[in-house]
Amino acid sequence: MKDLSPNKSDLDPIEIASVDEIRALQLKRMKWSLQHAYDNVPMYRQRFDERGVHPDDLKQLSDLAKFPFTHKNDLRDNYPFGLFAVPREDIVRVHASSGTTGKATVVGYTKNDISMWSDVLARSLRAAGLRKGDMIHNAYGYGLFTGGLGAHYGIERLGATVVPMGGGQTEKQVGLITDFQPQGIMVTPSYMLNILDGFRKAGLDPRESSLQVGVFGAESWTNAMRAEVEEAFDMHAVDIYGLSEIIGPGVANECVETKDGLHIWEDHFYPEIIDPQTGEVLEDGQEGELVLTTITKEGMPMIRYRTRDLTRLLPGSARSMRRMQKITGRSDDMIILRGVNVFPTQIEEQVLAQDKLAPHFQIELFRAGRMDAMRVYVEIDVENAGNADRDLVGTLLSKRIKDMVGVSTQVVVGAPGTIERSHGKAVRVVDNRKKDE
Ligand code: DLL
Repeated sequence: MKDLSPNKSDLDPIEIASVDEIRALQLKRMKWSLQHAYDNVPMYRQRFDERGVHPDDLKQLSDLAKFPFTHKNDLRDNYPFGLFAVPREDIVRVHASSGTTGKATVVGYTKNDISMWSDVLARSLRAAGLRKGDMIHNAYGYGLFTGGLGAHYGIERLGATVVPMGGGQTEKQVGLITDFQPQGIMVTPSYMLNILDGFRKAGLDPRESSLQVGVFGAESWTNAMRAEVEEAFDMHAVDIYGLSEIIGPGVANECVETKDGLHIWEDHFYPEIIDPQTGEVLEDGQEGELVLTTITKEGMPMIRYRTRDLTRLLPGSARSMRRMQKITGRSDDMIILRGVNVFPTQIEEQVLAQDKLAPHFQIELFRAGRMDAMRVYVEIDVENAGNADRDLVGTLLSKRIKDMVGVSTQVVVGAPGTIERSHGKAVRVVDNRKKDE
C-alpha cells in the first residue's frame, strides 16, 4: 500500500495547535453556542431554566456537565422545525432520517453550517490520505440521508473530482471504478463487500483496481474488517464517523498514517463520555456513551446530544485533537443473551477469523421455549463445498463464539449469496423474539 501521509503544511493549523489553544477556542465557542441555543430555541430555554442554569454559568469547559442532555426524542417532539435556531428562510438544506419507529427526525443547516461541514469533511478526506486533484467515487446514498450530499460537498471542497454514484447498481459501480480509475472511494463498509463481490463476478482482480483508500462509515465495523478489505483491494481502509443531528459524516476521522481511532474535529464538536445509566461524565480513557455538543453550528445547535454510540476518548496522536476509539456499537444494538452483553461487532470479528467463510453475516434473535436465543447466518467461501464442510465450519464458528464472546449460538452456513446484501447500512440483527418458535 502506498504511503499517503499528508504534508503537515496542508493541514489546518488548528489540527496541530497546542491543546491549550484548542481548549481556549472551545470555551469561547461553547459560550456562544449555549447563548445562541438559549436565545433562539424555546426547548433549550425551558430546559436550562428548569435546571436553573444559564449560559453565563459556563466558566470552564467542565461546567458543561451542569447543562441538560438532548435526546433523539426531542427531535421527534419538535418535529419538523421546532429546534431551528434561525428563521426557516435561513436554512438552506434539510436532511432527515426515517428511523425505524415513530416520526422522522429532521435537521437543518444554514449556508455557514454547510460550509463548516464541507470544511471538516475535506479535512477528514485529507486525514484519510486523499488530496486535491484526486478522483473520489462516492457511493454513499444521496437524498435525505446525510452520507451522499455530505461527502459530495466535502470532496468538492477538497478540490478533488467527485463521482456522484450513490448506493446500489453494483455492476455499474464496478464498471465506473474500472473506467474512471478513482484513487478514493466513500461507501459503507458492508456495501464495499458487495462491490468486492462485484469485482470477482466480473472476473476482475480487486487488487489491480486504482483504489488507494476507502473512507468507510455510517455503521460499526471492526479492525478485522479493515484487514479483510485492505488485503482484498490492496488499499487503505479508514474510518469516518458522524450523525445527522450533529452534521452528518465528518465529525471525526482516522488518520491514514496511524489508523488508531478517529480524531474528533474538536474545534466544532465538543465530546464527552458519560455513564449511560447515571449520566455522569467519565474521565478520558473510560468507555461509555459519546455525548456531543456543537460549538459553531447555527441552524440547529445541539447541546449535549446523546449519540447512544459507545466508545472512549483517547489523547491526540497524529493530530492534537482527541481521538475516539472505533465504535463498539450503539447501546440500542446491544443484545443481552442470558445475561451476556453481545454486540454485532464481536460476532463480526469471529466470522472474519474463519478463512472458509465470506465476510457477510446476519444475526437472528428468536425465542426457544422461554429463553432468548441467537442464530448467526454466514456464507461458505469455498468452491464446491459439501454439507460436511459446511457443518464443520459452522461448528468451529459456534465454538469460537462461545469461547471468545461467551454465548451459545446456532450457526447456519449457507451457500454464497444467501444473505441479503446491503446497499447502505447493513441490517445486522433481525429480531424475531416476539414470534415463538
Ligand atoms: O450515518 C452519517 C454518516 C454517513 C457517517 C456516512 C459516516 C459516513 P446517521 O444516518 O444519522 O448519519 O446515523 C448516525 O450511524 O450515531 C452511529 O451509530 C452510526 N455511525 C456513523 N458512522 C459510524 C462509524 C450517518 N464510523 C449513526 N462507526 C451514528 C460506527 C457509525 N458507527
